[in-house]
Amino acid sequence: MASTRDDLSLDDIHLLEDTWAEAVPYDQFALLRKEAPVFWHEHPEWKGFWAVTRYDDVRAVSRDHQTFSAELGSTFLQDHDEAQLELIRMTILNMDPPKHSRYRRLVSAGFKPRMITALLDHIQELADRIVAEVDGEDEIEFVERVAAELPLQVICELLGVPNDDRHLIFDWSNRMVGSQDPDFRVSDEDGEAAMGEIYMYCDALANDRRVNPQDDIMTALVEAEVDGDRLTQEELNMFFVTLVVAGNETTRNLISHSVLAILEHPELKAELVAGIDDDELWTTAVEEFLRWGASIHNFRRTATVDTEIAGQPIKAGDKVVIYYPAANRDPEHFENPDVFDPRRTPNDHVTFGGGGTHFCLGANLARSQIKAMVRTFLRRYPDVAPAGPHRRMRSDFVNGIKYLPVRLAG
Ligand code: HEM
Repeated sequence: MASTRDDLSLDDIHLLEDTWAEAVPYDQFALLRKEAPVFWHEHPEWKGFWAVTRYDDVRAVSRDHQTFSAELGSTFLQDHDEAQLELIRMTILNMDPPKHSRYRRLVSAGFKPRMITALLDHIQELADRIVAEVDGEDEIEFVERVAAELPLQVICELLGVPNDDRHLIFDWSNRMVGSQDPDFRVSDEDGEAAMGEIYMYCDALANDRRVNPQDDIMTALVEAEVDGDRLTQEELNMFFVTLVVAGNETTRNLISHSVLAILEHPELKAELVAGIDDDELWTTAVEEFLRWGASIHNFRRTATVDTEIAGQPIKAGDKVVIYYPAANRDPEHFENPDVFDPRRTPNDHVTFGGGGTHFCLGANLARSQIKAMVRTFLRRYPDVAPAGPHRRMRSDFVNGIKYLPVRLAG
Protein backbone atom coordinates (compact mmCIF):
# COMPACT_ATOMS: atom_id res chain seq x y z
CA MET A 1 0.00 0.00 0.00
CA ALA A 2 1.70 3.16 -1.21
CA SER A 3 -0.65 5.65 0.41
CA THR A 4 0.70 8.00 2.99
CA ARG A 5 -1.25 9.43 5.87
CA ASP A 6 -2.07 12.60 3.90
CA ASP A 7 -3.58 11.13 0.76
CA LEU A 8 -5.39 8.17 2.26
CA SER A 9 -9.17 7.82 1.85
CA LEU A 10 -11.65 5.24 3.11
CA ASP A 11 -11.52 3.59 -0.35
CA ASP A 12 -7.89 2.65 0.39
CA ILE A 13 -8.67 0.73 3.57
CA HIS A 14 -7.26 -2.76 3.28
CA LEU A 15 -6.62 -4.67 6.49
CA LEU A 16 -5.76 -8.06 5.00
CA GLU A 17 -2.49 -10.00 5.01
CA ASP A 18 -0.65 -8.21 2.17
CA THR A 19 -0.93 -4.97 4.08
CA TRP A 20 0.44 -6.43 7.31
CA ALA A 21 3.36 -8.02 5.44
CA GLU A 22 4.56 -4.45 4.73
CA ALA A 23 3.87 -2.70 8.04
CA VAL A 24 1.28 -2.20 10.74
CA PRO A 25 -1.17 0.12 8.94
CA TYR A 26 -1.15 2.94 11.50
CA ASP A 27 -2.08 5.44 8.77
CA GLN A 28 -5.24 3.47 7.98
CA PHE A 29 -6.07 3.18 11.67
CA ALA A 30 -5.70 6.94 12.18
CA LEU A 31 -8.17 7.57 9.37
CA LEU A 32 -10.60 4.90 10.59
CA ARG A 33 -10.59 6.13 14.19
CA LYS A 34 -11.36 9.61 12.92
CA GLU A 35 -13.83 8.98 10.12
CA ALA A 36 -15.22 5.46 10.46
CA PRO A 37 -14.43 3.91 13.85
CA VAL A 38 -16.76 0.99 13.11
CA PHE A 39 -16.01 0.34 9.46
CA TRP A 40 -17.57 -2.27 7.16
CA HIS A 41 -14.70 -4.19 5.51
CA GLU A 42 -15.35 -6.61 2.65
CA HIS A 43 -13.35 -9.82 2.40
CA PRO A 44 -12.47 -11.47 -0.93
CA GLU A 45 -12.99 -15.03 0.36
CA TRP A 46 -15.18 -14.80 3.43
CA LYS A 47 -18.02 -12.76 4.82
CA GLY A 48 -17.16 -9.11 5.43
CA PHE A 49 -16.68 -7.73 8.95
CA TRP A 50 -16.89 -4.64 11.11
CA ALA A 51 -13.43 -3.25 11.91
CA VAL A 52 -13.37 -1.63 15.37
CA THR A 53 -10.41 0.70 15.97
CA ARG A 54 -11.09 3.09 18.87
CA TYR A 55 -9.71 2.24 22.32
CA ASP A 56 -13.03 2.59 24.17
CA ASP A 57 -14.89 0.46 21.63
CA VAL A 58 -12.23 -2.27 21.61
CA ARG A 59 -12.51 -2.49 25.38
CA ALA A 60 -16.32 -2.40 25.36
CA VAL A 61 -16.52 -5.28 22.86
CA SER A 62 -13.92 -7.32 24.81
CA ARG A 63 -15.87 -6.92 28.02
CA ASP A 64 -19.33 -7.80 26.75
CA HIS A 65 -19.21 -11.53 26.04
CA GLN A 66 -22.99 -11.78 26.07
CA THR A 67 -23.41 -9.50 23.08
CA PHE A 68 -20.09 -10.30 21.38
CA SER A 69 -19.49 -14.03 21.42
CA ALA A 70 -16.08 -15.68 21.06
CA GLU A 71 -17.74 -19.06 20.60
CA LEU A 72 -20.45 -18.58 17.99
CA GLY A 73 -18.19 -18.04 14.97
CA SER A 74 -14.81 -18.45 16.77
CA THR A 75 -12.26 -15.69 17.38
CA PHE A 76 -10.77 -16.01 13.88
CA LEU A 77 -11.51 -13.75 10.95
CA GLN A 78 -12.09 -16.57 8.50
CA ASP A 79 -15.37 -18.48 8.13
CA HIS A 80 -15.48 -22.11 9.23
CA ASP A 81 -18.07 -24.82 8.67
CA GLU A 82 -19.89 -26.36 11.63
CA ALA A 83 -17.57 -29.39 11.82
CA GLN A 84 -14.49 -27.15 12.01
CA LEU A 85 -16.21 -24.88 14.51
CA GLU A 86 -16.98 -27.78 16.78
CA LEU A 87 -13.28 -28.54 17.02
CA ILE A 88 -12.20 -24.90 17.38
CA ARG A 89 -14.73 -24.37 20.16
CA MET A 90 -12.82 -26.86 22.29
CA THR A 91 -10.05 -24.28 22.78
CA ILE A 92 -10.37 -21.81 25.64
CA LEU A 93 -10.16 -18.70 23.45
CA ASN A 94 -13.21 -19.85 21.52
CA MET A 95 -15.55 -20.55 24.44
CA ASP A 96 -18.13 -18.34 26.11
CA PRO A 97 -19.22 -18.57 29.75
CA PRO A 98 -20.38 -20.79 31.37
CA LYS A 99 -18.29 -23.29 29.38
CA HIS A 100 -15.35 -20.88 29.45
CA SER A 101 -15.61 -20.26 33.21
CA ARG A 102 -15.45 -23.98 34.01
CA TYR A 103 -12.49 -24.56 31.70
CA ARG A 104 -10.60 -21.48 32.84
CA ARG A 105 -11.05 -22.52 36.49
CA LEU A 106 -9.54 -25.90 35.72
CA VAL A 107 -6.59 -24.75 33.62
CA SER A 108 -5.83 -21.91 36.05
CA ALA A 109 -4.74 -24.67 38.42
CA GLY A 110 -1.67 -24.95 36.22
CA PHE A 111 -0.91 -21.25 36.68
CA LYS A 112 -0.82 -21.32 40.48
CA PRO A 113 1.38 -18.50 41.77
CA ARG A 114 3.83 -20.98 43.32
CA MET A 115 4.62 -22.52 39.94
CA ILE A 116 4.94 -19.25 38.17
CA THR A 117 7.14 -17.78 40.93
CA ALA A 118 9.50 -20.75 40.72
CA LEU A 119 9.73 -20.30 36.97
CA LEU A 120 10.18 -16.52 37.18
CA ASP A 121 13.28 -17.01 39.33
CA HIS A 122 14.67 -19.19 36.61
CA ILE A 123 13.94 -16.88 33.65
CA GLN A 124 16.96 -14.64 34.27
CA GLU A 125 19.24 -17.67 34.28
CA LEU A 126 17.80 -18.85 30.95
CA ALA A 127 18.17 -15.36 29.43
CA ASP A 128 21.84 -15.22 30.54
CA ARG A 129 22.50 -18.57 28.91
CA ILE A 130 20.85 -17.56 25.62
CA VAL A 131 22.91 -14.37 25.40
CA ALA A 132 26.10 -16.29 26.23
CA GLU A 133 25.39 -18.68 23.33
CA VAL A 134 25.95 -15.92 20.74
CA ASP A 135 29.02 -14.46 22.44
CA GLY A 136 31.95 -13.83 20.13
CA GLU A 137 29.86 -13.62 16.94
CA ASP A 138 29.79 -10.46 14.82
CA GLU A 139 26.37 -10.75 13.25
CA ILE A 140 23.39 -12.89 14.15
CA GLU A 141 19.81 -13.38 13.03
CA PHE A 142 18.11 -12.20 16.21
CA VAL A 143 14.70 -13.90 15.88
CA GLU A 144 15.85 -17.48 15.76
CA ARG A 145 19.05 -17.18 17.80
CA VAL A 146 17.71 -15.06 20.65
CA ALA A 147 14.03 -14.02 20.60
CA ALA A 148 12.61 -17.47 19.92
CA GLU A 149 14.66 -19.25 22.53
CA LEU A 150 13.38 -17.91 25.84
CA PRO A 151 9.62 -18.37 25.22
CA LEU A 152 10.33 -21.80 23.82
CA GLN A 153 12.43 -22.86 26.81
CA VAL A 154 9.94 -21.34 29.26
CA ILE A 155 6.93 -23.02 27.68
CA CYS A 156 8.79 -26.34 27.60
CA GLU A 157 9.72 -26.02 31.29
CA LEU A 158 6.21 -24.97 32.14
CA LEU A 159 4.72 -27.98 30.44
CA GLY A 160 7.46 -30.44 31.37
CA VAL A 161 8.73 -30.97 27.81
CA PRO A 162 12.39 -32.08 27.91
CA ASN A 163 14.78 -29.42 26.59
CA ASP A 164 15.95 -31.68 23.76
CA ASP A 165 12.42 -31.80 22.36
CA ARG A 166 12.00 -28.04 22.22
CA HIS A 167 12.68 -27.84 18.50
CA LEU A 168 9.75 -30.17 17.87
CA ILE A 169 7.58 -27.65 19.66
CA PHE A 170 9.15 -24.79 17.64
CA ASP A 171 8.39 -26.57 14.39
CA TRP A 172 4.80 -27.48 15.31
CA SER A 173 4.11 -23.98 16.44
CA ASN A 174 5.44 -22.45 13.17
CA ARG A 175 3.46 -24.89 11.08
CA MET A 176 0.24 -24.11 12.92
CA VAL A 177 0.34 -20.33 12.50
CA GLY A 178 2.35 -19.90 9.29
CA SER A 179 -0.27 -20.79 6.69
CA GLN A 180 -0.49 -17.28 5.18
CA ASP A 181 3.24 -16.80 4.76
CA PRO A 182 4.99 -18.31 1.72
CA ASP A 183 8.31 -18.68 3.60
CA PHE A 184 6.82 -21.22 5.96
CA ARG A 185 5.31 -23.13 3.02
CA VAL A 186 2.65 -24.81 5.07
CA SER A 187 -0.63 -26.03 3.67
CA ASP A 188 -3.78 -26.41 5.75
CA GLU A 189 -3.10 -30.16 5.66
CA ASP A 190 0.38 -29.65 7.05
CA GLY A 191 -1.03 -27.43 9.81
CA GLU A 192 -3.50 -30.18 10.68
CA ALA A 193 -0.73 -32.80 10.60
CA ALA A 194 1.28 -30.66 13.05
CA MET A 195 -1.78 -30.56 15.30
CA GLY A 196 -2.06 -34.38 15.18
CA GLU A 197 1.63 -34.78 16.06
CA ILE A 198 1.33 -32.40 18.96
CA TYR A 199 -1.72 -34.29 20.28
CA MET A 200 0.17 -37.55 20.32
CA TYR A 201 3.04 -35.89 22.10
CA CYS A 202 0.69 -34.42 24.70
CA ASP A 203 -1.04 -37.78 25.26
CA ALA A 204 2.29 -39.42 25.99
CA LEU A 205 3.38 -36.62 28.33
CA ALA A 206 0.07 -36.66 30.24
CA ASN A 207 0.18 -40.44 30.61
CA ASP A 208 3.68 -40.17 32.01
CA ARG A 209 2.68 -37.50 34.56
CA ARG A 210 -0.25 -39.61 35.76
CA VAL A 211 2.26 -42.19 36.98
CA ASN A 212 5.28 -39.92 37.56
CA PRO A 213 3.94 -36.62 38.93
CA GLN A 214 6.40 -33.69 38.68
CA ASP A 215 6.38 -30.04 39.62
CA ASP A 216 5.07 -28.81 36.26
CA ILE A 217 1.88 -27.57 34.63
CA MET A 218 1.17 -30.89 32.93
CA THR A 219 1.02 -32.64 36.32
CA ALA A 220 -1.16 -29.83 37.71
CA LEU A 221 -3.47 -30.16 34.72
CA VAL A 222 -3.87 -33.93 34.88
CA GLU A 223 -4.54 -33.64 38.62
CA ALA A 224 -6.72 -30.49 38.45
CA GLU A 225 -10.12 -30.95 40.02
CA VAL A 226 -12.70 -28.26 40.72
CA ASP A 227 -15.95 -29.36 42.41
CA GLY A 228 -15.38 -32.95 41.31
CA ASP A 229 -14.82 -31.86 37.69
CA ARG A 230 -11.70 -32.79 35.69
CA LEU A 231 -10.27 -32.09 32.23
CA THR A 232 -10.72 -34.88 29.69
CA GLN A 233 -7.65 -35.98 27.70
CA GLU A 234 -9.04 -34.19 24.64
CA GLU A 235 -9.49 -30.94 26.58
CA LEU A 236 -5.97 -31.32 27.89
CA ASN A 237 -4.60 -31.72 24.36
CA MET A 238 -6.43 -28.63 23.24
CA PHE A 239 -4.97 -26.61 26.08
CA PHE A 240 -1.48 -27.89 25.34
CA VAL A 241 -1.81 -26.68 21.73
CA THR A 242 -3.20 -23.34 22.90
CA LEU A 243 -0.31 -22.80 25.27
CA VAL A 244 2.29 -23.74 22.68
CA VAL A 245 0.86 -21.25 20.20
CA ALA A 246 -0.30 -18.54 22.63
CA GLY A 247 2.81 -18.58 24.78
CA ASN A 248 5.41 -18.96 22.11
CA GLU A 249 4.88 -16.87 18.99
CA THR A 250 3.43 -13.92 20.88
CA THR A 251 6.33 -13.57 23.29
CA ARG A 252 8.95 -14.23 20.60
CA ASN A 253 7.51 -11.48 18.40
CA LEU A 254 7.20 -9.05 21.25
CA ILE A 255 10.90 -9.54 22.11
CA SER A 256 11.84 -8.99 18.45
CA HIS A 257 9.65 -5.89 18.17
CA SER A 258 11.21 -4.51 21.35
CA VAL A 259 14.73 -4.85 19.96
CA LEU A 260 13.58 -3.41 16.64
CA ALA A 261 12.14 -0.39 18.49
CA ILE A 262 15.50 0.04 20.23
CA LEU A 263 17.39 -0.18 16.93
CA GLU A 264 15.06 2.34 15.32
CA HIS A 265 15.27 4.86 18.20
CA PRO A 266 18.90 5.61 19.12
CA GLU A 267 17.83 8.00 21.90
CA LEU A 268 15.72 5.24 23.43
CA LYS A 269 18.68 2.88 23.31
CA ALA A 270 20.87 5.44 25.04
CA GLU A 271 18.27 5.97 27.78
CA LEU A 272 17.79 2.24 28.37
CA VAL A 273 21.53 1.56 28.41
CA ALA A 274 22.14 4.44 30.84
CA GLY A 275 19.33 3.11 33.05
CA ILE A 276 20.15 -0.57 32.67
CA ASP A 277 20.01 -1.06 36.49
CA ASP A 278 16.94 1.13 36.94
CA ASP A 279 14.22 -1.42 37.55
CA GLU A 280 11.46 1.19 37.58
CA LEU A 281 12.48 2.38 34.11
CA TRP A 282 12.57 -1.16 32.78
CA THR A 283 9.16 -1.97 34.24
CA THR A 284 7.51 0.96 32.45
CA ALA A 285 9.60 0.38 29.31
CA VAL A 286 8.25 -3.19 29.07
CA GLU A 287 4.67 -1.87 29.12
CA GLU A 288 5.63 0.53 26.33
CA PHE A 289 7.22 -2.30 24.34
CA LEU A 290 3.91 -4.12 24.73
CA ARG A 291 1.85 -1.11 23.62
CA TRP A 292 4.20 -0.53 20.69
CA GLY A 293 4.61 -4.05 19.37
CA ALA A 294 1.25 -5.75 20.07
CA SER A 295 1.93 -9.24 18.83
CA ILE A 296 -1.65 -10.09 17.91
CA HIS A 297 -3.37 -7.79 15.42
CA ASN A 298 -6.93 -8.65 16.24
CA PHE A 299 -9.51 -11.08 17.52
CA ARG A 300 -12.96 -11.56 16.12
CA ARG A 301 -16.28 -11.74 17.93
CA THR A 302 -19.77 -12.45 16.56
CA ALA A 303 -22.81 -10.38 17.57
CA THR A 304 -25.40 -12.55 19.33
CA VAL A 305 -28.24 -9.98 18.97
CA ASP A 306 -28.98 -6.83 16.98
CA THR A 307 -26.94 -4.16 18.73
CA GLU A 308 -24.74 -1.13 18.09
CA ILE A 309 -21.17 0.01 18.61
CA ALA A 310 -20.58 3.76 18.92
CA GLY A 311 -23.91 4.39 17.19
CA GLN A 312 -23.27 1.99 14.30
CA PRO A 313 -26.06 -0.63 14.07
CA ILE A 314 -24.72 -4.20 14.07
CA LYS A 315 -26.92 -7.16 13.15
CA ALA A 316 -27.06 -10.47 15.02
CA GLY A 317 -24.55 -12.81 13.35
CA ASP A 318 -22.27 -9.99 12.09
CA LYS A 319 -18.54 -10.39 12.51
CA VAL A 320 -16.88 -7.77 14.71
CA VAL A 321 -13.08 -7.53 14.59
CA ILE A 322 -11.22 -5.59 17.28
CA TYR A 323 -7.80 -4.17 16.39
CA TYR A 324 -5.38 -4.00 19.32
CA PRO A 325 -2.65 -1.89 17.62
CA ALA A 326 -5.30 0.65 16.58
CA ALA A 327 -6.55 0.98 20.16
CA ASN A 328 -2.98 1.22 21.45
CA ARG A 329 -2.38 4.34 19.33
CA ASP A 330 -5.71 6.08 19.99
CA PRO A 331 -4.93 9.75 20.74
CA GLU A 332 -8.21 10.01 22.67
CA HIS A 333 -6.70 7.65 25.19
CA PHE A 334 -2.90 7.97 25.00
CA GLU A 335 -1.03 11.26 25.00
CA ASN A 336 1.31 11.47 22.00
CA PRO A 337 0.52 7.86 21.07
CA ASP A 338 3.05 7.77 18.22
CA VAL A 339 5.91 8.61 20.55
CA PHE A 340 7.74 5.76 22.29
CA ASP A 341 7.93 6.87 25.92
CA PRO A 342 9.72 4.30 28.09
CA ARG A 343 8.41 6.02 31.23
CA ARG A 344 4.76 6.26 30.11
CA THR A 345 2.46 5.96 33.14
CA PRO A 346 -0.30 4.93 33.25
CA ASN A 347 -0.08 2.63 30.26
CA ASP A 348 -3.24 0.57 30.02
CA HIS A 349 -2.62 -0.88 26.55
CA VAL A 350 -4.80 -3.71 25.25
CA THR A 351 -2.00 -5.98 24.04
CA PHE A 352 -3.13 -8.73 26.43
CA GLY A 353 -6.79 -8.10 25.57
CA GLY A 354 -9.36 -5.50 26.49
CA GLY A 355 -9.91 -6.81 30.02
CA GLY A 356 -12.75 -9.27 29.52
CA THR A 357 -13.09 -12.93 30.53
CA HIS A 358 -10.39 -14.00 28.05
CA PHE A 359 -7.69 -11.68 29.42
CA CYS A 360 -4.31 -13.30 28.74
CA LEU A 361 -3.51 -16.02 31.25
CA GLY A 362 0.23 -15.68 30.63
CA ALA A 363 0.53 -11.88 30.85
CA ASN A 364 2.89 -11.80 33.82
CA LEU A 365 4.97 -14.62 32.49
CA ALA A 366 5.32 -12.74 29.19
CA ARG A 367 6.21 -9.47 30.94
CA SER A 368 9.01 -11.16 32.88
CA GLN A 369 10.42 -12.77 29.79
CA ILE A 370 10.45 -9.55 27.75
CA LYS A 371 12.13 -7.68 30.59
CA ALA A 372 14.78 -10.33 31.24
CA MET A 373 15.59 -11.02 27.61
CA VAL A 374 15.74 -7.48 26.22
CA ARG A 375 17.56 -6.11 29.25
CA THR A 376 20.13 -8.91 29.38
CA PHE A 377 20.77 -8.56 25.66
CA LEU A 378 21.20 -4.79 25.84
CA ARG A 379 23.40 -5.02 28.93
CA ARG A 380 25.75 -7.39 27.07
CA TYR A 381 25.52 -5.62 23.67
CA PRO A 382 24.91 -1.90 24.28
CA ASP A 383 26.25 -1.11 20.78
CA VAL A 384 23.95 -3.49 18.92
CA ALA A 385 23.07 -2.15 15.45
CA PRO A 386 20.97 -3.27 12.47
CA ALA A 387 22.84 -5.48 9.97
CA GLY A 388 20.28 -5.21 7.16
CA PRO A 389 16.52 -4.88 6.70
CA HIS A 390 14.16 -6.98 8.79
CA ARG A 391 11.34 -9.02 7.26
CA ARG A 392 7.78 -9.20 8.53
CA MET A 393 5.47 -12.17 8.49
CA ARG A 394 2.54 -12.14 6.06
CA SER A 395 -0.40 -12.69 8.38
CA ASP A 396 -3.64 -10.89 9.19
CA PHE A 397 -3.46 -12.23 12.75
CA VAL A 398 0.12 -12.42 14.09
CA ASN A 399 2.38 -9.36 14.13
CA GLY A 400 5.39 -11.44 13.28
CA ILE A 401 9.00 -10.62 12.49
CA LYS A 402 10.62 -13.56 10.79
CA TYR A 403 14.07 -12.12 10.14
CA LEU A 404 16.03 -9.47 12.07
CA PRO A 405 19.77 -9.36 11.35
CA VAL A 406 21.85 -7.49 13.94
CA ARG A 407 25.53 -6.62 14.43
CA LEU A 408 26.37 -7.30 18.03
CA ALA A 409 29.36 -5.05 18.50
CA GLY A 410 27.77 -2.02 16.84
C1 HEM B 1 3.65 -10.95 24.71
C2 HEM B 1 3.08 -12.10 24.81
C3 HEM B 1 1.59 -12.35 24.78
C4 HEM B 1 0.60 -11.61 24.21
C5 HEM B 1 0.72 -10.32 23.41
C6 HEM B 1 -0.65 -12.29 24.48
C7 HEM B 1 -1.89 -11.83 24.09
C8 HEM B 1 -3.10 -12.44 24.38
C9 HEM B 1 -4.39 -11.94 23.99
C10 HEM B 1 -4.66 -10.67 23.18
C11 HEM B 1 -5.32 -12.81 24.46
C12 HEM B 1 -6.84 -12.70 24.28
C13 HEM B 1 -7.41 -11.72 25.26
C14 HEM B 1 -8.89 -11.42 25.07
O1 HEM B 1 -9.54 -12.02 24.19
O2 HEM B 1 -9.38 -10.57 25.82
C15 HEM B 1 -4.61 -13.87 25.14
C16 HEM B 1 -5.20 -14.97 25.72
C17 HEM B 1 -4.48 -16.02 26.23
N1 HEM B 1 -3.11 -16.09 26.45
FE1 HEM B 1 -1.77 -14.71 25.94
N2 HEM B 1 -0.38 -13.42 25.21
C18 HEM B 1 0.98 -13.49 25.41
C19 HEM B 1 1.67 -14.47 26.11
C20 HEM B 1 1.10 -15.58 26.66
C21 HEM B 1 1.81 -16.61 27.39
C22 HEM B 1 3.31 -16.58 27.71
C23 HEM B 1 0.89 -17.57 27.72
C24 HEM B 1 1.06 -18.86 28.45
C25 HEM B 1 2.14 -19.40 28.82
C26 HEM B 1 -0.40 -17.12 27.22
C27 HEM B 1 -1.58 -17.81 27.35
C28 HEM B 1 -2.83 -17.33 26.99
C29 HEM B 1 -4.06 -18.09 27.16
C30 HEM B 1 -4.19 -19.50 27.72
C31 HEM B 1 -5.11 -17.27 26.68
C32 HEM B 1 -6.59 -17.60 26.62
C33 HEM B 1 -7.30 -17.10 27.86
C34 HEM B 1 -8.81 -17.31 27.79
O3 HEM B 1 -9.36 -17.50 26.70
O4 HEM B 1 -9.41 -17.30 28.86
N3 HEM B 1 -0.25 -15.91 26.60
N4 HEM B 1 -3.24 -13.62 25.10
